Amino acid sequence: MTITTSPLTTARDGADSTPAPCTEAIRLTRGATFDGERITAPFGTLRLKELPSGARAALTALAGEDLDEGRITALVVAGDGEAGLLRWHMLRTRLDNTGLLEHSVTGADGTTLARLVTVGRGRTTLRPVPRDAVRLSRHALLLPADGTLSLRAPGSPLAVELGPAAAPFLARLTDWTDAARIPAPLLRLIATAGALNPGTPEDDPEREQRGGVQWHPLDLAFHTRTRVPASVAGYGGTYPFADRFPPEPVAAPAGDGPRVPLPVPDLDEIAARDPSLTEVIERRTSTRAHDPGSPVTVDQLAELLYRTVRIRATFTGGDGQELADRPLPSGGSVHELEVYPLVTNCAGLAPGLYRYAPDRHELELVREPGPATEPLVREARAATMADDDPQVVLLVAARFGRVMWKYETVAYPLILKHVGVLYQTVYLVATAMGLGVCGLGGGDTSAFAAATGRDPLLEGTVGELVLGTPRLTAPGGPADREE
Ligand SMILES: Cc1cc2nc3c(=O)[nH]c(=O)nc-3n(C[C@H](O)[C@H](O)[C@H](O)COP(=O)(O)O)c2cc1C
Repeated sequence: MTITTSPLTTARDGADSTPAPCTEAIRLTRGATFDGERITAPFGTLRLKELPSGARAALTALAGEDLDEGRITALVVAGDGEAGLLRWHMLRTRLDNTGLLEHSVTGADGTTLARLVTVGRGRTTLRPVPRDAVRLSRHALLLPADGTLSLRAPGSPLAVELGPAAAPFLARLTDWTDAARIPAPLLRLIATAGALNPGTPEDDPEREQRGGVQWHPLDLAFHTRTRVPASVAGYGGTYPFADRFPPEPVAAPAGDGPRVPLPVPDLDEIAARDPSLTEVIERRTSTRAHDPGSPVTVDQLAELLYRTVRIRATFTGGDGQELADRPLPSGGSVHELEVYPLVTNCAGLAPGLYRYAPDRHELELVREPGPATEPLVREARAATMADDDPQVVLLVAARFGRVMWKYETVAYPLILKHVGVLYQTVYLVATAMGLGVCGLGGGDTSAFAAATGRDPLLEGTVGELVLGTPRLTAPGGPADREE
């Protein structure tokens, strides 16, 4: 590494740009310590055998502050002589290969312009400074974090933390611009983090190619954050805030509304009358139109809920979180999903929005039918393009905190997977019972928040199905079979 003096332009565009020097430096990655023989970082330990005194002095200094190449060289040479520099450079490459170094760029005013940091696990290979036109990737994200803006590229284990002085250059990089108008060291860090468009103005894959065009930046960030483990600090159960918040109980506390006890179905009797699994799977279909003259009964609703989402047992995990056993599976047995039957036409049950208490097998009235529940019914009806309101909408809500107490990067995708599991379980049981069901692809969690008064950051809808007795046009066939 050399001390680089680059033309650092001011915030203003055009010919009046003023060159200013900037300095490149490195330091050990944050959270890393050096005890003379090994570097211990949050993501692992690197043992360094028989380190000469100069290299040890350099590492000790780098554990505490940014050092430019001149200062590092002076420390190494003072201890190990000129001959020690070759070994030092090999060691520094090793540190970059294990993501143990941060690279910073300081502006003429002494403030940090940018800092390349390791946010996942992987090597840091500084990329060459682009010479021609440059532009930020349309998939790059800028997130505020602890007094800096963190520039991220999907799937990269590196991020660039940007100081306020970098803002004008970022603004320029929102469109193709001459690389010479951006300080080279800054550009190198942004390129190394993978946040530059990989193409050229004439050949821009982010505008021309299916993979670059179709992905929305937020979806790609979500996808890579959850499917590229090396791009994040922790994967699986990381218990990110377990020291600040207790785990939530497996069964939500009972609400204030009137309770409706449900009949407990006889599973032996059900097993005797149920069609075979093969028959159910082969018969399963989506049914959107319901028979208004013959609504689903409260006994049927009770049976469906009991057979799909009741809590069969609870137990405590090794981490102290209360877990559940239900007919449907759930990652880590966490079971964060709640079902809210929104009833418009059910024999034996007054219309309204209920919550199914899976531990008590009863319904709790959350909201009488009215202006707060109507948008939810309307949404479901519109989603199925049905002529009539669905007899019942099963709103599927997640108590996010149950999953997020344990999981971090995989928390939300896990919830969505659970929704799929629930959909299919409901589809199969409803089919076995001769009921019509259709999963929906979208819903309005703010309408759910308005109807329930739930804090949408703590509990919100993540899926919905419509349920009812199928309307038959002719004996044996549902009216709305999709071709
Ligand atoms: C996750 C998911 C979302 C769906 N979203 C809708 C929807 O919003 N509206 C709708 O009418 N059908 C919806 N469906 C039903 C599909 O259209 C249906 O499964 C598909 O047409 C195949 O028909 P089949 O289920 O009868 O086999 C959804 C199904 C699933 C699994």
